[in-house]
Amino acid sequence: MKVLVTGHTGYIGAVLVPMLRTAGHEVVGLDTEFFAGCDFSDGLAEVPTLRADLREIGVEALAGFDAVLHLAALSNDPLGDLNPDCTYDINHRASVRLARLAKEAGVGRFLFSSSCSLYGVAAGDGLLAEDAAFNPVTAYGTSKVRVEQDVSPLADETFSPTFLRNATAYGVSPRLRGDLVVNNLVAFAYTTGEVLIASDGTPWRPLVHIEDISRAFLAVLQAPRELVHNQSFNVGRTAENYQIRDVADMVKDVVPGSRIRYAEGGGPDPRCYRVNCDKIARTLPEFRPQWTVRRGVEQLYGAFKEHGLTIDEFQSTKYLRLKQIKKLQAEQRIDETLRWIRA
Ligand SMILES: NC(=O)c1ccc[n+]([C@@H]2O[C@H](COP(=O)([O-])OP(=O)(O)OC[C@H]3O[C@@H](n4cnc5c(N)ncnc54)[C@H](O)[C@@H]3O)[C@@H](O)[C@H]2O)c1
Repeated sequence: MKVLVTGHTGYIGAVLVPMLRTAGHEVVGLDTEFFAGCDFSDGLAEVPTLRADLREIGVEALAGFDAVLHLAALSNDPLGDLNPDCTYDINHRASVRLARLAKEAGVGRFLFSSSCSLYGVAAGDGLLAEDAAFNPVTAYGTSKVRVEQDVSPLADETFSPTFLRNATAYGVSPRLRGDLVVNNLVAFAYTTGEVLIASDGTPWRPLVHIEDISRAFLAVLQAPRELVHNQSFNVGRTAENYQIRDVADMVKDVVPGSRIRYAEGGGPDPRCYRVNCDKIARTLPEFRPQWTVRRGVEQLYGAFKEHGLTIDEFQSTKYLRLKQIKKLQAEQRIDETLRWIRA
């Protein structure tokens, strides 16, 4: 299939694109490149690319594709809170517009990178399946709800959207992110000897490796249309819900000599939920996730050791999305609406 991947040079996109190509798909990327040069390692796939802002593209950019895999977004809560209106502009309005344009251009499939953060504060202790109530606590989470609600009615016999509600990601990527909990805990343990927990350690979080997210995109893309048409799937494994303190224990076990420390003032985190991922396993048996958090911690530790990561590098603009965006603004390379300022 010929597929357009938006956000293809981001943390997940950098791992997804090679997997799609290995499976025989023709990939074109679209990215505005906020994180150009923010590389942990070589290995970004070279694919034909539209360097463009999602908000500016026209229908002609979408002609000829069999599917759009839409990952481009302001990708976390702090970034989303920097300028909530801008978050809605990119993550919600531009995403819905992209879906409409894709449909108009005759693209049959639209895979949206949604998030389990749309469940937000979970009522009670149970495992949340796809029919659970939305309860987002951030602009980021709300934007994901709104896209699902606005794109779903576009579904018809010519256009099949699918919503992949990814758990919180971890794992090594050429475009590593340091603002994700597992990556962050391992990096702190390796570089400082302390597994530094920002909350009180009790929040539950579903966790998934970026390679397994990529496998889910591939499985949905290749699935018979009727199985995925206008469906939402939690992406991860039901067995891979953890309390942050359990992840911290694993990190302590893997990183020699490290010890756990709770940051001062870290209270309970309202973002606390456990999800049930049985639907994707049941519907798409060819989706076989291969990672556990324990193995992911080992992978990250090995990669950080080989790289010789330092705490200064880890806390730099390279791996912290919010810091990089603020730097581009301070240098007047992007404006407050996150549009590039032309020289
Ligand atoms: N990483 C996770 O834990 C996780 C979990 C659930 C969902 N998701 C979703 O998956 C997607 C990818 O996440 P990621 O972790 O790779 O994030 P990322 O920040 O590493 O990558 C996002 C990419 O989108 C691009 N982008 C942002 N705004 C754009 C715009 N206006 N026009 C064109 N390109 C733009 C950025 O330049 C970047 O390369 C996002 O939609 C995110 O919400 C991620």
